This record gives sequence, C-alpha cells and structure tokens, in this order.
Amino acid sequence: MYQIIDKKRLNEAVELMVIHAPFVARKCEPGQFVILRVEEKGERIPLTIADYDRKKQTVTIIYQIVGYTTKLLSTKNIGESILDFVGPLGKPSELKKYKRVLGIGGGVGAAPLYPQIRKLKEMGVEVDVILGGRNKEFIILDREFETICDNVYYATDDGTKGTKGFVTDVLNRLLDEGGIYDEVIAIGPLIMMRAVVNITKPKNIPTAVSLNPIMIDGTGMCGGCRVTVGGETKFACVDGPDFDGFLVDFDECMRRQGIYKEEEHSCRIGLGGEHHA
Ligand SMILES: Cc1cc2nc3c(=O)[nH]c(=O)nc-3n(C[C@H](O)[C@H](O)[C@H](O)COP(=O)(O)OP(=O)(O)OC[C@H]3O[C@@H](n4cnc5c(N)ncnc54)[C@H](O)[C@@H]3O)c2cc1C
Ligand code: FES
Repeated sequence: MYQIIDKKRLNEAVELMVIHAPFVARKCEPGQFVILRVEEKGERIPLTIADYDRKKQTVTIIYQIVGYTTKLLSTKNIGESILDFVGPLGKPSELKKYKRVLGIGGGVGAAPLYPQIRKLKEMGVEVDVILGGRNKEFIILDREFETICDNVYYATDDGTKGTKGFVTDVLNRLLDEGGIYDEVIAIGPLIMMRAVVNITKPKNIPTAVSLNPIMIDGTGMCGGCRVTVGGETKFACVDGPDFDGFLVDFDECMRRQGIYKEEEHSCRIGLGGEHHA
C-alpha cells in the first residue's frame, strides 16, 4: 500500500498528490511515469511523475479529473493509501546540454514538463517556458516554473493571463522576435503538440513531444500504446513516452485515442461499475 502524504487542489479539474513510494522515488528520472490502481476492483491508469524527493521517498503526481479512476483517486485523502503504484516506467527523457531550450506546457502537460525543465536548469541550460490553458485558473505550476526558468510566458484562451490565444501564438512571436532555441519540448494535448511541430519543423528546431496513448500493461506486451514514429511501430510505454515530434504520426495517434470514447462516456455517467470490477 502507498500512503498519501499530501494532497492539493490546483484548480477545479486538477489535483496534486504526494505519495510515499520508496522504490519509485529511488530510481525515477524526468520523463518517466507510474501505473497506479486505487483499489482492488479498479483499473490501472498511467500518470507521469511530476516530481520526486529521494530523501523523503515520495513521488508527486498531478492529474486531471476526467473519468472513473481519476474521480475515484480524488476521493482519497491524506493518510489514506492506494493499492498499486508501479514504476518507474518508460524511458527517461533524453536531456542534452544545449545552450537554450524552450518548454511548452499545455494544461496538465505542464506537470510532466516540470521535472525535465528543472533537470535542464540543473545541467546549466538556459530555459524559457510557455504555459497555456483555457483561462488563468487552468495554468498550473506557474510559481514553480517562474522560480527555475529564465522567462515564463503565458497564453490563455480568454486572455486572463498573458497573451490571449494559443501557446503557438507566443511561440510564433518569440521566433519572429529572433528567439533562438536549440530544442523545443512540447507536452500537452495531441492537437497542441502537432501545431507546435508544424511551426518548428520548417525551421528545423528539434522538438520532443510526450505521447499519452491508451496504456494497459505498461511493459510492451499488450500493444495498446502502439504509435507510428518515423514509419516504424513503437510502443509508447517502453520506447517513449517521449519521441521526436518531427517523426510522429499525429493523425494516427488521434484516431487511436478516440477508440474507447463510448465506454469512457458510460463510466462517466455511472454505467461502468461492473465494467471496472
Ligand atoms: C504515459 C502517460 C502519462 C500520463 N500522465 C498524465 C498526467 O500526468 N496527468 C494526467 O492528468 N493525465 C495523464 N495521463 C492521462 C491519464 O492516464 C488519463 O487521464 C487517465 O487514464 C483517465 O482515466 P479515467 O478512468 O479517470 O478516465 P476515462 O473516462 O477512462 O478516460 C478519459 C480519457 O483518459 C484517457 N485514458 C483513459 N484510460 C487510459 C489509459 N489506460 N491510458 C492512457 N490514457 C487513458 C483517454 O484519452 C480518455 O479519453 C497520462 C497518460 C499516459 C499514457
Ligand atoms: S501499454 Fe501495453 S504495450 Fe504499451
């Protein structure tokens, strides 16, 4: 059992949990994830490791409450425990000692971006970040990024924080103003990552993206997380989740992510109890 050490509501849809998980905390690196199960009669879901503290033996997860399992997780309180917390899974991010890197985090994508940016800063890389969200309430970890980054830019759909528009509007502006970046790391909805790549590819700025396809076993055995990268089949759980954004077949990823829409809807409206048991 894995005890919940701390829990915070970051906005109406997103929560942070600090979990006591000594084995995961000892080994994990930025870019890796865990697969957790809240209770015995529950499904396993993947969540990125948003932070870790090796001394305290804790791992932080940040999750958007979207469906059955994330709702169940959010009913758990400090002092209670969750049943399984398996990891670290996936490949650590390949962080290079570039001169200057731009991170782009859309919504809850800011969570997996944070440990990568923190590590780059520790490596002596200059880092700028663009954070985007529906409105200012949906921007998370802004203070954390502001503490470690050289510049943090914001984009909100309604203009309540930073530029009114998308993260890609800010990206275009920075590049038009002469901003030079050796790499871009974009994490967020697939549609956002594809839009970023559409800008960076013609300018030949290497761009890493983090894919979140449906995952089941997390060990490369079930094939659930199959993605096409550079014309080859890869499994995001063992070959990723980070990939070269220039090579990802985003259209296929989007089609596959929608495969279980109907079942997920049934769970959300409460028809999924038996299905999940
Ligand atoms: C490597 C990886 C890292 C992730 N990291 C985060 C994170 O840090 N924070 C966060 O909020 N979300 C993260 N996700 C997405 C998260 O796994 C889903 O939000 C979660 O599984 C939803 O489960 P649910 O039962 O609450 O919702 P459901 O109603 O079952 O599904 C809602 C949406 O979640 C996605 N989803 C559902 N089941 C899975 C699954 N087994 N694998 C992948 N996606 C699924 C689907 O896109 C679906 O449309 C990550 C996914 C992957 C693959
Ligand atoms: S989750 Fe099963 S192969 Fe990746």
